[in-house]
Amino acid sequence: MIEHLYIHIPFCPNICPYCAFYKESAGRERVEAFIDALLVEAKFHAPTLRPRTLFFGGGTPSALSFSQMERLLEGLHACLNLSAVEEWTIEMNPATVALDKAHLLLAAGINRISMGVQSWDDTLLKALGRTHSAAKAEESFHLLREAGFQNISLDLIFGIPNQSLASWQATLEHTLRLNPEHISAYGLTYEEGTEFFRLRKQGIMKANEHLEADQFELATDLLEQHGYRHYEISNYAKQSRESAHNMAYWLGRDYLGLGPSAFSTVAGRRWRNICETGLYSSSTMSGKTAIDFEEQLSPQLLAIERAAFGLRTYHGLLFEKARPWQKAMEEMEQHGLLYRTSDRWLLTRRGKLLADVVGEIFM
Ligand SMILES: C[S@@+](CC[C@H](N)C(=O)[O-])C[C@H]1O[C@@H](n2cnc3c(N)ncnc32)[C@H](O)[C@@H]1O
Ligand code: SF4
Repeated sequence: MIEHLYIHIPFCPNICPYCAFYKESAGRERVEAFIDALLVEAKFHAPTLRPRTLFFGGGTPSALSFSQMERLLEGLHACLNLSAVEEWTIEMNPATVALDKAHLLLAAGINRISMGVQSWDDTLLKALGRTHSAAKAEESFHLLREAGFQNISLDLIFGIPNQSLASWQATLEHTLRLNPEHISAYGLTYEEGTEFFRLRKQGIMKANEHLEADQFELATDLLEQHGYRHYEISNYAKQSRESAHNMAYWLGRDYLGLGPSAFSTVAGRRWRNICETGLYSSSTMSGKTAIDFEEQLSPQLLAIERAAFGLRTYHGLLFEKARPWQKAMEEMEQHGLLYRTSDRWLLTRRGKLLADVVGEIFM
């Protein structure tokens, strides 16, 4: 039985210039057709599914209207056995949070929110093309708390052009005052195909790697001082509030992904659904496959992936699993990027900062 289920909801009220996730603007008819198709796909996989973790990602799942969300949730409850679900996350954009929807989500069993705040500085929010203000994000956070959500994660971005160390510190401190259970702090990446990628290529936007390194270290210091464990390069959690769903990916567990562009990995086979919502919906509804890419992963490749992702987490890499890379690990240790405990390798502070360099061991 597959224990981890991802559902990709590809609609956003507004498209951010840095984002490369598969998404589109929400049009009513396309959303309705997508929900029909998603329920057909869910029903098809139902016999192999007994999710312990469920993740509504996107896009912006909270962009669905109340009635669209209600239909989706009722449909999923009708076709899937959700009795084993322990963690059910939904990604939200602060601009799309409303009390009636929050109650609907809670009643359906969703118990974790991941909200894209990004920054508490209105000028930077504008620079990121966000439609919400810091005040709206704060209001949305309190609304979710009042509705009854006890497990909230906030996404933040550092490395934004013109974001000083002081501004980043203010964003971290503001976040800490709200006391969320989990914080994701991502360094801004310039993803191919995005507006920011183009602007950087033209020299209009510039990254400052030294400042970004200082911002990363500041986040680690401040968040750890306030009781958040740095359990993965970009993720910090209070005790037992790590994302079980993401941890399952990083530890190489099988997972199923539904919806356009969603990946699945089951028993060494990996596949991806079509990255186009209309085609995904029409193919699924006409009984054709929505898969546009698949591969069989060799046991060696799976072991490499597990090692590379595992090392980025607080689980590290057990000595017995690290044997193929022993020499390279020792070199990284000499450079101060890795250290050992009695049974495993772990990233040092500097190693976390240079995790991509360490990751080259596995290439
Ligand atoms: C798929 S988005 C979902 C959240 C929701 N749609 C929103 O934007 O509020 C997940 C998170 O990825 C992060 N993200 C997306 N693109 C990024 C990029 N190019 N660099 C850094 N972080 C990025 C943002 O922090 C965002 O909140
Ligand atoms: S960051 Fe979120 S709201 Fe912005 S385009 Fe990406 S998924 Fe949509």
